[in-house]
Amino acid sequence: MNLLQFLFILALSVTVIAEKKSYDGYKLYKVVPKTEKEVEILEEIRDARFADFWNEYFKVNDDVRMLVEPDLQLVVQGRLMHAGVQVSTIIEDVQKVINKQLTPIKDPSRSSSFLSYDWEAYHDLNAIERWLDELVTEYPSIVSPVTMGYSVENRTIRGIVINYNPSRDKPAAIIEGTLHAREWISTAAVTWIIKEFLTSNDEDVRAMAENLEWHIFPVVNPDGYVYTFTDDRMWRKNRSPASFTSCAANNVSDDMSNGVDLNRNFDFEWMTIGASNNSCTNTYAGPSAASEPETKAISNYVLNVKEKADIVYYLSFHSFTQLFILPYSHVTNVTQFPADNHDDLVEIAINSTQKLSERFGTHYRVGIAAEVLYPMGGSSFDWAKAYGNASISYLIELRDEGQYGFLLPPEQIIPNNLEIMDALVEMDKSTKRLGYYVPTSAASTSIYSLALITLAVLSVNLFN
Ligand SMILES: *[C@@H]1O[C@H](CO)[C@@H](O)[C@H](O)[C@H]1NC(C)=O
Ligand SMILES: *[C@@H]1O[C@H](CO)[C@@H](O)[C@H](O)[C@H]1NC(C)=O
Ligand SMILES: *[C@@H]1O[C@H](CO)[C@@H](O)[C@H](O)[C@H]1NC(C)=O
Ligand SMILES: *[C@@H]1O[C@H](CO)[C@@H](O)[C@H](O)[C@H]1NC(C)=O
Ligand SMILES: *[C@@H]1O[C@H](CO)[C@@H](O)[C@H](O)[C@H]1NC(C)=O
Ligand SMILES: *[C@@H]1O[C@H](CO)[C@@H](O)[C@H](O)[C@H]1NC(C)=O
Ligand SMILES: [Zn+2]
Repeated sequence: MNLLQFLFILALSVTVIAEKKSYDGYKLYKVVPKTEKEVEILEEIRDARFADFWNEYFKVNDDVRMLVEPDLQLVVQGRLMHAGVQVSTIIEDVQKVINKQLTPIKDPSRSSSFLSYDWEAYHDLNAIERWLDELVTEYPSIVSPVTMGYSVENRTIRGIVINYNPSRDKPAAIIEGTLHAREWISTAAVTWIIKEFLTSNDEDVRAMAENLEWHIFPVVNPDGYVYTFTDDRMWRKNRSPASFTSCAANNVSDDMSNGVDLNRNFDFEWMTIGASNNSCTNTYAGPSAASEPETKAISNYVLNVKEKADIVYYLSFHSFTQLFILPYSHVTNVTQFPADNHDDLVEIAINSTQKLSERFGTHYRVGIAAEVLYPMGGSSFDWAKAYGNASISYLIELRDEGQYGFLLPPEQIIPNNLEIMDALVEMDKSTKRLGYYVPTSAASTSIYSLALITLAVLSVNLFN
């Protein structure tokens, strides 16, 4: 055994015995930099690693969220106050909010469950996998289990295919959740969409469920997701040890280097912008394009689906900020490289988010990444658009706008899911109106025949 192997094994055993990280007394602060000078002060705080920022980049007048451990709160507040920067405390004790995410809300008037699963709290990977098994058992002619591939730690990346009337050819749609481990609301939203497709009586939901072959993967980063339950609630990346190194220079724990940001690792504009080559950061793009087994699994799966059918939708669910992001994300100005159907993507997203806002008034913004977030290369939904030829490809950032961020309370799971379902229904209607696919199933036939009958009745009346 050479020294490197020894260090590697040592690192692994340290990982194994590492305790779950406590966020007792951590505070979440909000700062809105008003000037370039204030942006610089935030950058200093970031570079000194006095805070863990939930934003990758800072802009004047854009909200910034930072998580600060108890020992550094005075330093950070002092630094900001000294420079005249206003700061407010959004979460007083982060660990309490994390605990709440795992505590089911007990309100019988709004209880929800479907088989062994519910949306009263966030659930771990075991609960999700058990539920996927139940779906296959309960809906044998509609739901089939599918394996996308295996993670770094050799967990199975599991999903289901929902196909009503499998004998009929239909276009495909792919939904991916939890590419980023800590974005738990994405897991809860994707599982809800599955429930709706299987149980809803709404005819628009039925049409959407039945006219397409749905490939749905609630957790495409299973290692990272498990790690958010067992070790560190704030973990984002996968759990690859391949770039393990000392992170002393970054003043973060060395464990930070055990992971690649999967949404920077795809082989589309890899490492060109908005990504890091330093494994001690949260946006580490990996040693090479598509280096990660999770990335390869998703890419190969998309290409396999594309062999057999047109991919109408590719939806990548994330949180937070409330955005519908359309391709492409590596440009700083949309005129540089618009998607071939850019205008349709904008119109569909605007109509969907307009519909979304009607239920609870929740506001989502629409645009390419450069317009609503920041430019980035190597993302899955851009790759799916470019190489999977997915007609309608979005990255959807779910609730909220940063009040709780990744720690969205369980009370908001169902409202988040209800409004996103409204958006998807409107998305599907707009997509059909624009002729992206022709509905064929009974669910939609009935709407069309109803329309024909109505027309017939009208014309009979007219000619009487
Ligand atoms: C990974 O898991 C699968 C079954 O889930 C097994 O067949 C395979 O041998 C495992 N591979 C490794 C490297 O452990
Ligand atoms: C970061 O630096 C401070 C001193 O500047 C030190 O006390 C702390 O232990 C360092 N944190 C990590 C995770 O290395
Ligand atoms: C990483 O990127 C920095 C600039 O962001 C560059 O200076 C450095 O050479 C790069 N390191 C490697 C190993 O590519
Ligand atoms: C994008 O480029 C176009 C054409 O060069 C220009 O008119 C527009 O102002 C640019 N938009 C932004 C936000 O820079
Ligand atoms: C991409 O999809 C469109 C619409 O489904 C189809 O017309 C076109 O032929 C596809 N292009 C490629 C390169 O597969
Ligand atoms: C989007 O909404 C506008 C305004 O309601 C409507 O005129 C338009 O037809 C809708 N677009 C699609 C593609 O459904
Ligand atoms: Zn994300």
